[in-house]
Amino acid sequence: MTDHDLAGDPLEQIRAWLDDARKLTDQPQAMTLATATPDGSPSARVVLLHGLDDHGLTFFTNRDSRKGDEIRRNPRAALAIHWWELGRQVRIEGVVEEVSVEESTAYWQTRPRGSQLAAWASPQSQPLTDRAELDARVAEVERFAGSAVPLPSFWGGYRVVPESVELWIHRDNRLHDRFRYARDGAGWRTERLAP
Ligand SMILES: Cc1cc2nc3c(=O)[nH]c(=O)nc-3n(C[C@H](O)[C@H](O)[C@H](O)COP(=O)(O)O)c2cc1C
Repeated sequence: MTDHDLAGDPLEQIRAWLDDARKLTDQPQAMTLATATPDGSPSARVVLLHGLDDHGLTFFTNRDSRKGDEIRRNPRAALAIHWWELGRQVRIEGVVEEVSVEESTAYWQTRPRGSQLAAWASPQSQPLTDRAELDARVAEVERFAGSAVPLPSFWGGYRVVPESVELWIHRDNRLHDRFRYARDGAGWRTERLAP
């Protein structure tokens, strides 16, 4: 199917591409996450990829945010990652699972204290009167001064478990290579798509 020697498992291939991207770009984990309301109105934003294992791709956020609300009501998502320097794009569509409190806690504890306080202070996606309101909220969470900042109940990880993955490789004259993987039992079925 391909002259690129791609892995049979797309998650393995994404891991290899991510390793390549780490050598060439400062922020290889930036990915666009699209979610949708149950009636199909989409929304998209950039989040950071924090875990990639055999099950899927993990990011962390505020569960009461707009994306968290959409995932709760419609647990499906699409991801797009583009590495300009490599001329490669990955597209993923699948279902979304909440990661365990244990996994969220393990990542939370690696975050800088300032990021932990910001997560407590910011009611992500809610309207604010002005910047002063945010500053006041940050001042309020200084109550954690001197002690470890606990994981908020409203904050944690999500794993996008792919049902389909597309690997895109830049070629001259817009004649790019595209390979789509779709789940097929325990394995993956692949096909080449026109650019
Ligand atoms: C490079 C970059 C990385 C980001 N990473 C995250 C992230 O990992 N988690 C997160 O909640 N928001 C992240 N954001 C902010 C989101 O894009 C978005 O503004 C926020 O999550 C609120 O989205 P929502 O209102 O659709 O829920 C990032 C933004 C940028 C530009």
